Amino acid sequence: MTEGIGPIRVLLLETEPDAAAHVREALAGDDRVHLVATVADQTSLLDKLGATYAQVAVVDLAGLRGDIGPAVREILSRAPECCVIVTGANVAPGTVSRAVTAGARGFLLKPYPAEDLVTTIREAYGNLQELRRLQRIDRTPGGPKPGVVIAVYSPKGGVGCTTIATNLAVALAQRAKASVALVDLDLQFGDIGIALDLKSANSVADLLNHVDAIESSLVDEVFVRHSSGVRALLAPDNLAMVPSIDPDRVARVVDQLRPHFQFIVCDLWSSLEDLTLATLRMADRIVLVTTPELPSLRSLRRVMAATGLLLQDDRTLLVANRVPGKAGIGVGEIERGLGRTIAATIPSEGVGITEAINRGISILDDRARAKAGSSYRKLAELIVHGLEPAAIGQAGRRPVPATELR
Ligand SMILES: Nc1ncnc2c1ncn2[C@@H]1O[C@H](COP(=O)(O)OP(=O)(O)OP(=O)(O)O)[C@@H](O)[C@H]1O
Ligand SMILES: [Mg+2]
Repeated sequence: MTEGIGPIRVLLLETEPDAAAHVREALAGDDRVHLVATVADQTSLLDKLGATYAQVAVVDLAGLRGDIGPAVREILSRAPECCVIVTGANVAPGTVSRAVTAGARGFLLKPYPAEDLVTTIREAYGNLQELRRLQRIDRTPGGPKPGVVIAVYSPKGGVGCTTIATNLAVALAQRAKASVALVDLDLQFGDIGIALDLKSANSVADLLNHVDAIESSLVDEVFVRHSSGVRALLAPDNLAMVPSIDPDRVARVVDQLRPHFQFIVCDLWSSLEDLTLATLRMADRIVLVTTPELPSLRSLRRVMAATGLLLQDDRTLLVANRVPGKAGIGVGEIERGLGRTIAATIPSEGVGITEAINRGISILDDRARAKAGSSYRKLAELIVHGLEPAAIGQAGRRPVPATELR
């Protein structure tokens, strides 16, 4: 089973107050699951799906306005990532098969013991995650060792995505002597070349005619190697050509890089346009960056609400950069405001980081005088945790609890 990060967020549709209390009690005693809301009818359930970022919907038949099949389909059309589990008493013949055919992942006949609910939620959700992971591998041509795509994103510019993407890539490369690609998907203003003092006549644009397969020789030609071992794919130098680049093709290029690298770190820009969305959808891990300032938190909250489960599933790690900040917003306050746990924090280190950027070296370089390096190493540990061994290479390690990484 794929390991998740944080408790599974459960939304309950239940008309019977006693049954709802039974579920609340069952889930309250287990910190691997979290009940985000209880509703009593189908319309409210559909309304709440996006706002609560539910990963699992436990739906009782008595609360539906019609048959189970259309209801499950409607839920999944609103929230395709959601795992639907159906409950019911005195179930008519054929109900279970109609639910499952429509896409439900589990069925519980009432009355059921409290522990069965938690087990069913965890198993159904875990199986669904595993299925998605296998589907991603299946889609990857060229073999059983697909690279892990990591998207680094913030809806607010200037909060540190490029710095994090760059140093995370170096930390991953150092961690397991892994092959790591750093891809600049900020096509307009990408500055990975500047951050790592790299120059190249080639860019992502040179791969756009190779969306079905990319030869190793072409990867060697187009990527530019940094002294850390990370290989970077820079943004096009020529700004005029950017509007003509098809975002779908860029996303397919990123997918085609999987057989060539163990990790593919993508630096995104803040705009939530097609390329950003496509990359967020395909990513195995999303590093969602914020700073402890109101404008950054506000943007993040809006985007999380607008994109529903996209930034809420267990691929996503919330990272707070430049903590503690001058505005005095603490980690706890950020977590309460966003309804999500911060997986890692990075301290503010203006002089060290700026100096490293100016010298084109990573903060993790022995020559750098920055102390924040350990935060990026810890973030790399957290990213790798729970991924398939093929991607991790020789570096299979013990699981790292999120709390240890603060
Ligand atoms: N932890 C940190 N401490 C101090 N300064 C930092 C830290 N992280 C990033 N910075 C600085 O903040 C500025 C913006 O960082 P960066 O370019 O990584 O952000 P970005 O989110 O990629 O921005 P853009 O929206 O322009 O792409 C840079 O000058 C960088 O040196
Ligand atoms: Mg940037």
